[in-house]
Amino acid sequence: MNGIVLISGNGSNLQSIIDHSTAIDLDIKAVISNHSSAYGLKRAEHANIPTHTLSHKQFSSREKFDQALSNIINQYNPEIIILAGFMRILSAKFTHQYSGKMLNIHPSLLPKFPGLNTHQRVIESKERQHGVSIHFVTEQLDRGPIIAQASVDICDTDTTESLTERVLLEEHKLFPKVIHWFTQGRLKLKGNHAMLDGKVL
Ligand code: GRF
Repeated sequence: MNGIVLISGNGSNLQSIIDHSTAIDLDIKAVISNHSSAYGLKRAEHANIPTHTLSHKQFSSREKFDQALSNIINQYNPEIIILAGFMRILSAKFTHQYSGKMLNIHPSLLPKFPGLNTHQRVIESKERQHGVSIHFVTEQLDRGPIIAQASVDICDTDTTESLTERVLLEEHKLFPKVIHWFTQGRLKLKGNHAMLDGKVL
């Protein structure tokens, strides 16, 4: 299945997706970043995947940036759009255009801790559990139907760094698995529900 991956930074999730791409039947047609310095662009180049940089700073509005972004995406006619650490809030129009085929990974057990700096906020809130969620993207930030989650226990000695590292290990396993469900045609969005093999998740 043809896909596009959007990133903003290091791209460790992108790397995991690249490493699993044959096994999960994903053909990554391009990687797009809104930051030219994103290390993930190097990872894509190394894997011979075309890259694009589209800086949001060049645009006077969110809508104009999103329009330019979808112009690039649509050149590839992708069946799946994967947000792998893409740190941009997307306009409603953009999310509607790709409804049911755009997945995001978020480093918390949603609906807890939407937004930024989740690891730090989790530690400050003295939570005992943390983790990762993968969801369909809808116009509400980090609020689309949840597809899968993986949790990690929090220890008293945990720091933002140690927790980031442990959650990322889970992210790298979970995202390829969920993408595979999608490429196999097993995962769908119906109304406001994520469905796997015809059953609500
Ligand atoms: C991950 O924690 C992801 O869940 C979040 O941003 C981070 C991206 O990390 N949305 P990387 O760029 O994949 O290493």
